[in-house]
Amino acid sequence: MSNYHIKHLEEYFQVYRKSVREPENFWEEIAEEHFLWRKKWDKVLTWDFTKPEVKWFEGAQLNITENCLDRHLTTRGDKTAILFEPNNPEEPAEAISYRQLYERVNQMANILKAQGIQKGDRVCIYLPMIPELAISLLACARIGAIHSVVFAGFSSTALSTRINDSDCKLVLTSDGSYRGDKTIDLKGIVDEALESCPGVQTVLVTKRTGSDIQMKKGRDLWLQPLLNEASTFCEAESMGAEDPLFILYTSGSTGMPKGMVHTIAGYMVYTAYTFKNAFQYREPDVYWCTADIGWITGHSYIVYGPLANGATTLLFEGVPHYPDFGRFWNIIEKHKVNQFYTAPTAIRALAKQGTEVLEQYDLSSLKVLGSVGEPINEEAWHWYNDNVGKGKSPIIDSWWQTETGGIMITPIPYVTPTKPTYATLPFPGIQPVLMDETGEELKGNQVEGRLCIKFPWPSIARTIWGNHKRYKDTYFSTFKNMYFTGDGALRDEVGYYRITGRVDDVIIVSGHNLGTAPIEDAINEHPAVAESAIVGYPHDIKGNALYGYVILKDFGATRDRDNLRKEINQIITEQIGPIAKLDKIQFTQGLPKTRSGKIMRRILRKIACKETNDLGDTSTLLNPDVVQEIINEAL
Ligand code: WTA
Repeated sequence: MSNYHIKHLEEYFQVYRKSVREPENFWEEIAEEHFLWRKKWDKVLTWDFTKPEVKWFEGAQLNITENCLDRHLTTRGDKTAILFEPNNPEEPAEAISYRQLYERVNQMANILKAQGIQKGDRVCIYLPMIPELAISLLACARIGAIHSVVFAGFSSTALSTRINDSDCKLVLTSDGSYRGDKTIDLKGIVDEALESCPGVQTVLVTKRTGSDIQMKKGRDLWLQPLLNEASTFCEAESMGAEDPLFILYTSGSTGMPKGMVHTIAGYMVYTAYTFKNAFQYREPDVYWCTADIGWITGHSYIVYGPLANGATTLLFEGVPHYPDFGRFWNIIEKHKVNQFYTAPTAIRALAKQGTEVLEQYDLSSLKVLGSVGEPINEEAWHWYNDNVGKGKSPIIDSWWQTETGGIMITPIPYVTPTKPTYATLPFPGIQPVLMDETGEELKGNQVEGRLCIKFPWPSIARTIWGNHKRYKDTYFSTFKNMYFTGDGALRDEVGYYRITGRVDDVIIVSGHNLGTAPIEDAINEHPAVAESAIVGYPHDIKGNALYGYVILKDFGATRDRDNLRKEINQIITEQIGPIAKLDKIQFTQGLPKTRSGKIMRRILRKIACKETNDLGDTSTLLNPDVVQEIINEAL
């Protein structure tokens, strides 16, 4: 039996059991049957979570681009690999075949080599969502350079910190980028960042907006003329299984962002396997993930996972509200998208528009809907399910992290029955456990605790670049012999997992643990509420009390605010219990969000605690202005 593609629930349970009983055989068979190796491994797995150390497929030699490109040329040469949909809907979409992608990656790889980039060198990629971004990742992988993609919405300070942390030698960027009706001066941001990055020798610039930019002599080069000259063949470097593939930064609760390091073979095997199953991808499906390649979701499920499976992956440059809120639906109709993977924050923003826009489009091609990045609240789940999926496309609420490399807990569509707000069951190979605060494992069902993973999986990050101690402290020191996710979760009566949110967001009120997500869920059920966030603040009697920031669908409407507060608390009481009632409710027009759409609770917590003097770094916020507004109106 092939374990690669799971088709029904019984098969899932069989495969899962095997993956736990004989993890090495399980992964070895998948690796052997579905990938191209230059040399097979000597040992499938070496691990020790106390060091911590994890190695998969040690001794093997491969190149991930031969798996994502070369091997498809004979069977899928003319098939579309990347379907590029530009920001401006008037600009034609571009279908890049596997052969064309192969050639463009090889050309880019040759240019990097000509600029002196060698195996193991770090290359920073700061590009908008255009084909060159995906091509750059693959070009680095082709020659064994380690890519470090920095989301092209980060500021120059954030960029320079990341460039310096990993000693990047070269930066790939563009003259500018489009975002809705705005043009952003990307090259200007790079110039500013590089004032404090002495290690960068070369900047390769793609032309996108045609903006008037400065080219620094001896450092900056236009990419297009070099590409035109470059050969379409570049020998793939033979890489060790455990050689780093990339570094990707993720924010920690404090201090410097953490440069998570992923290595080649395990990451490839796991992202490919999970892509195939989590999306039930079948040729010639068109798959679309709306994330930016600047985040792990884009790395794993726009670039590597889909291409390793020979899929057609859609790359969208723009934003959901340009030229209007129908853009996502328009793209789904235009390209007959079969799998659509997005974030709850986008779903809520679109739901806020009602269903009129959406109803103008034909969404009948959809087979699978995905959600990722934060807990999806019940209201958004139903809206997505009923209006986008018309009740016939299962929602995969997929839980995972930058650190895990790939999807960890998710329903497998058409296999695992879904349940609103539940990520449901672990992928084969993933052994989640829930721990209590004293470090004891909570066995059985109907328990809630801290989510840990007790056995390594192929795509676990191997270290934090340049700081193995921090890696150990952050993930392997809270619970003995466990990878600690930092998330809380509960396991229901049938063993389904629901992620309740970051554990640092769990608030203990009168001795009761309350997850923020279920309370927010309840509040969002109120018909007048668009979005909400809960934080704790110190309270004399209860230890902590709850402070709610609530965005109304129509902020200006004249409503009795006190009455609204009562109604919100009534819903909470009904859904969770009086213990979860909010002591304070502030109505606001926005919430501080990171560029990936996560609410920055740290800031809200400080405002609730009246500690507004030191809000820490707010420069990476999507909407820094909203912070002052919230402070001014704080209760
Ligand atoms: C949260 C994104 C609930 C979680 C792939 C995790 C989720 C963090 C879900 C990682 C989900 C992600 N349900 N919470 N389906 N997916 N999260 O590193 O708190 O950007 O720890 O990776 O997002 O975010 P990251």
